[in-house]
Amino acid sequence: MLHTLQTIALILVSSNFVFAVPQIVPRAVTRFAAFGDSFAAGIGAGQPFTGSGPDSANNAGCGRFDGSFNVKLRDDAKVHAASFDFLACSGATAQDVQNSQLPHLDQSADFITVSMGGNNVGFGDIVNGCVYRFNGIFAPDCDQALNNASTRINNNPDFLDPVTNGLRAITAKAPNAKVYVMGYAKFWNATTTQCDNVSWNYWQTPGATKMTRALRQKMNDLLDAVNNKISTAVQGLNNPRVTFVNYDAYFQNHRFCEGGVNEPQGPNEDRPNMFFFQLNTPVGSVNSFVQPFSPASQYLDWIKAAKTASPNTPVNPIYAGLSTATSASGGLPLWIAKIFHPTSPGHVAISSAISGKIP
Ligand SMILES: *[C@@H]1O[C@H](CO)[C@@H](O)[C@H](O)[C@H]1NC(C)=O
Ligand SMILES: *[C@@H]1O[C@H](CO)[C@@H](O)[C@H](O)[C@H]1NC(C)=O
Ligand SMILES: *[C@@H]1O[C@H](CO)[C@@H](O)[C@H](O)[C@H]1NC(C)=O
Repeated sequence: MLHTLQTIALILVSSNFVFAVPQIVPRAVTRFAAFGDSFAAGIGAGQPFTGSGPDSANNAGCGRFDGSFNVKLRDDAKVHAASFDFLACSGATAQDVQNSQLPHLDQSADFITVSMGGNNVGFGDIVNGCVYRFNGIFAPDCDQALNNASTRINNNPDFLDPVTNGLRAITAKAPNAKVYVMGYAKFWNATTTQCDNVSWNYWQTPGATKMTRALRQKMNDLLDAVNNKISTAVQGLNNPRVTFVNYDAYFQNHRFCEGGVNEPQGPNEDRPNMFFFQLNTPVGSVNSFVQPFSPASQYLDWIKAAKTASPNTPVNPIYAGLSTATSASGGLPLWIAKIFHPTSPGHVAISSAISGKIP
């Protein structure tokens, strides 16, 4: 593509056009395809994505936002992609990436990012069971959710195999692409003490689980285990075109429960240095837009609607489902769907981490 543009520039110059030739920024990438889950889709970060592409009809249902690290990367000087296929979809497991997103991949793609595996683990159960307990006494048991996640991470048919298979299928279909595979970032600062005595329980029921150092550490350890498995999957491919990007260090000092910060975030409180959404984190432009917010009644309205729509499906508000393409967050109200996902500044950090790996 670089050559094509240079050729065009030469033609323009040699044809003696009288008007100034617009400055042409070289394009390093011809076709960029972005695969993955809600982290890749950028749910809640910036504005809902309106670009075109092979799966653009599904933009709203997939919770794709223009603050995603993928959109930032598309415009990065090292990428500056001529075309961009935003295939990532909130709620996607590694199997969903292979079955539902891969068919849209154009084999001429020369630059690919992938963020997958998080939905194979059940982090939503952990956030619901151990942190917010949206479903009250029906929320998942915290210890069970942690144990089940750990079991899945270490059970190859649940995690390593589908991630490996998905990556194999992607590299096979786009044989010339450089592929950057994301890990995930740890949510908590697990060494500070101020959260030990604080519950993030949505209903603030007496005796609710507190965000102790031990609990925060357990969640962080699971994240490290996930990153290690994804790294193992990448190494197992033994393919020099595939690079693992662990961006966790970029989130240092930008997690929950950082020193001197009172948790959880209150309504109307701006926290541009925090790289993950909480319930009260404003959506969109972090510094200006604050949603009107009435958590309990909003949740009850939502759960009533979800139960009416599909009476037999257990509802976990953390998961942005693939099925109902009715809102910008896959059928879920954005104030829930965004929780524990990167904010716009978080996505800038992820984009920098990937850019730093591009030669
Ligand atoms: C954990 O796994 C067990 C066994 O599959 C299951 O019965 C239980 O509902 C799971 N609990 C959570 C919170 O995921
Ligand atoms: C923890 O909170 C309880 C109730 O709010 C309070 O009585 C206690 O002093 C707090 N402990 C610490 C170490 O802050
Ligand atoms: C946690 O907070 C402390 C106190 O602000 C800080 O020194 C430390 O770097 C933070 N991060 C981690 C991972 O402990």
